[in-house]
Amino acid sequence: MANKRIALYPGSFDPITNGHLDLIGRGSRLFDRLIVAILRNESKQALFSVPERIEMLEEVSRGFHNVEVASFNGLLVDYASEAGAGVLLRGIRAVSDYEYELQMALMNRRLRPAIETVFLMSSEAHSFISSRLVKEIIGLGGNISGLVPPSVENKLRERLLGEKR
Ligand code: PNS
Repeated sequence: MANKRIALYPGSFDPITNGHLDLIGRGSRLFDRLIVAILRNESKQALFSVPERIEMLEEVSRGFHNVEVASFNGLLVDYASEAGAGVLLRGIRAVSDYEYELQMALMNRRLRPAIETVFLMSSEAHSFISSRLVKEIIGLGGNISGLVPPSVENKLRERLLGEKR
């Protein structure tokens, strides 16, 4: 449907955190459809495979009726056009995210001017969470409850600490 606002929320999601989930919830209220898209990047060493990340994302976003999960290869703007998305959604946690996000947004605009990047500021409760830190902390025996959804915490424990649930 041409007049439906479709947004694409791209990322690595290795794994999804409560910060990502907050953005998904807010994005789902702003747009008619929200496609959460995982980059299939063979060169980047990931803890979870793309199918595992899809499964985790689908599980935690099941409550949002207009959210779907996908994966993509190649240029983000090409995939967004294919998917019919006119908006790229990204979150900004702190000033440190800004430069990287600005560069990507301007480059994506240069590549495909019709597609807009929309930024949402992370809620203060999530502004310090990153997938990288969550993996580091749990791997070193720290407590990550409240930082990722419980099902994701179980998967992390299983993968990094060998705990079977
Ligand atoms: O969660 P991340 O790792 O910060 O997400 C980065 C992502 C996936 C948005 C970015 O790497 C990307 O869009 N990659 C696809 C390839 C592409 O289009 N590159 C040019 C971006 S200007």
